[in-house]
Amino acid sequence: MKTIGEIVTLSGQFLAKLPRGKRIAEEIIADVLGMTRMDLYLQFDRPLVESELTHIRAKLKRCAKNEPVEYILGAVDFFGCRIQVDPRVLIPRPETEILVEKIAKQAKTGVLWDVCCGSGCIGISLKKANPHLQVVLSDIDKGALAVAAQNAALNGVEVTFVHGDLLEPFQGQKADWIVCNPPYVTEEEYQRLDPSVKDFEPKIALVGGISVYERLAHVADFLNPMGAFFFEIGCDQKTALQTLFPKATIECDWAGHPRFLFAQKS
Ligand SMILES: C[S@@+](CC[C@H](N)C(=O)[O-])C[C@H]1O[C@@H](n2cnc3c(N)ncnc32)[C@H](O)[C@@H]1O
Repeated sequence: MKTIGEIVTLSGQFLAKLPRGKRIAEEIIADVLGMTRMDLYLQFDRPLVESELTHIRAKLKRCAKNEPVEYILGAVDFFGCRIQVDPRVLIPRPETEILVEKIAKQAKTGVLWDVCCGSGCIGISLKKANPHLQVVLSDIDKGALAVAAQNAALNGVEVTFVHGDLLEPFQGQKADWIVCNPPYVTEEEYQRLDPSVKDFEPKIALVGGISVYERLAHVADFLNPMGAFFFEIGCDQKTALQTLFPKATIECDWAGHPRFLFAQKS
């Protein structure tokens, strides 16, 4: 019978070709055993039973076929929230937390819309950070809205949901804050994406190109005076977006790529 320590070593070797393979192997083993990664080392000589090994093997095999570990584990940590993910939604990216942190410092009260909400990570984490906000989440995909509703319940926040195309469900209404991380990859870029993204994450959450921002160009009409909007953008879209939103500010992510666009209504 193999011990936890032996399985950690063997699994790390099995996933060695993946970036962070050893770390991913540890996360999978810890998840199956209901432990933290630290516990694996504290209990390294504990023998594993066959059923545990079967679960670990099955998950490691999925990983070796490029499936993102986040879908295998079923959840990620995002700005103080536990966010469940499955192939109906994009896996929240760490860069998006930069955007949320920036908004959280300003948007303490009033109405906030999270357009293109996916898993709901943005709207839900902002509501959790600033409970006086009134948050509405929207998406065109009903599967994504179902995941977002599940995540709102999991994180104990009261938010509302609307279904539809970009700002269409909000016709005739106004908000104080509008945040949107739309699908911004072009069809060409999509074809070149890493298989771990292209083969597993929903295409509807990725492909949109610059035309999605053209369709959002009237966003300020939906804002109350002094309201603001915040978009996540593709790193090579800065010039096109400066033309579309001449008064906006564009900021970079940790890698120095243009990634966020903000503007305030005067
Ligand atoms: C890039 S994902 C963002 C998900 C989440 N906000 C995040 O930051 O992780 C884009 C989301 O937009 C949704 N979407 C795509 N086209 C849309 C449209 N025309 N109107 C509304 N939502 C759309 C997709 O279903 C997907 O959930």
